Amino acid sequence: MALTRRGFIKVIGAGGVIVGASAYGFATTRTPQVALAPWGLAGSKAYTDPRMRALSYAILAPNPHNRQPWKVDLRTPGEAMLYCDLERLLPETDPPNRQITIGLGCFLELLRMAAAEEGILAKVTPFPQGAGEDLLDARPVARIQFLTGEATPDPLFKQVMQRRSLKEPFDTERPVTTSVLEELAMVVDDTVQVAATNDPQRIKDLRDLSWRAHYIETMTPRTLQESIDLMRIGKREINANPDGIDLGGAFLEGLSLLGQLDRQQLADQKSAAFQQGIDMYRAMMFSGMGYIWLGTETNSRADQLRSGANWLRVNLKATALGLGLHPISQALQEYPEMSETFAEIHSKLGVSLTDSNGPRVQMFGRLGYGPSLAETPRWKIETRLL
Ligand SMILES: Cc1cc2nc3c(=O)[nH]c(=O)nc-3n(C[C@H](O)[C@H](O)[C@H](O)COP(=O)(O)O)c2cc1C
Repeated sequence: MALTRRGFIKVIGAGGVIVGASAYGFATTRTPQVALAPWGLAGSKAYTDPRMRALSYAILAPNPHNRQPWKVDLRTPGEAMLYCDLERLLPETDPPNRQITIGLGCFLELLRMAAAEEGILAKVTPFPQGAGEDLLDARPVARIQFLTGEATPDPLFKQVMQRRSLKEPFDTERPVTTSVLEELAMVVDDTVQVAATNDPQRIKDLRDLSWRAHYIETMTPRTLQESIDLMRIGKREINANPDGIDLGGAFLEGLSLLGQLDRQQLADQKSAAFQQGIDMYRAMMFSGMGYIWLGTETNSRADQLRSGANWLRVNLKATALGLGLHPISQALQEYPEMSETFAEIHSKLGVSLTDSNGPRVQMFGRLGYGPSLAETPRWKIETRLL
């Protein structure tokens, strides 16, 4: 299968007019500059405080639905206190705040690496005032002490500006080799478990499972609505709120750029936009050429943070290898409609569920070779200080 970067858009408008244009052409004229600014500012010497320089990279971390729920208090010299913005949770698809916490773990690892580039050890103490029994609360997620001259750079950091979650179909004629899977697994530390597969039968099975899980989320109105509410449609919306979900796909992008897409259509199972969304995801889900997952023996908040840290490392390593990694979390989500699929994925990946604090698959993603998205970074919110 040949891959092109969102080649041509063909939009059939109400009047039957066919508009053909390169998506890239549209994108360059309608680029949401404000929303992309953090990529240009990362590491800027304009930040005189090394903590701000490190934070300017950390905010580029992967996180669920790109909510970027981080807020930082820098009032104590030499340290940073990280908080979760409780307005930026995902109550429908992530009721226990598990995935949100994983995203905060990605942020902390990127912060650590960015500080290490300057020889600074960012020493992380997770949940220094403890964590809530069930949900995240107003207490800090981590205390980070910046200790000068005590760290060495991490080679993975070189990939930070190219890293993406690659939400595109992969080349189904290009296998992911076992040695590539091994290289990915090697960057994971001993705080979490890692496993991966490129076995054709398992790939077939996991493609099908991930598609069914995606379909459940899409056909469950309140979980679909959570995503729709977070879609940023058009340049003005993106610049005003540089978080949320990429529409993705030439057809939807084209409709949105032409002002012919709204949230009602996206929620309407009979609309062309809804159907296009289904087709797009089906193509993605059935093109996984390998899978990788991270698990933990218990399901503590600290385990979730470490899962995020290691996911970020795997994502950076995949980037170094020219390999796409797409987290697909639907089957791991904890709401009633997903419960059978949740049990199924744990059983298929060989993790025995006990109780809510027992063993867990924390992250699951598909692997494959896809288009490079380095020229189309995702939008990010500037560092938010308390
Ligand atoms: C815990 C977690 C779960 C995620 N789950 C999904 C998912 O199910 N589907 C998906 O397309 N992306 C998923 N992502 C990727 C995010 O959508 C992505 O990180 C975010 O949009 C920012 O994009 P970037 O990673 O390219 O910077 C997940 C990321 C994290 C950290």
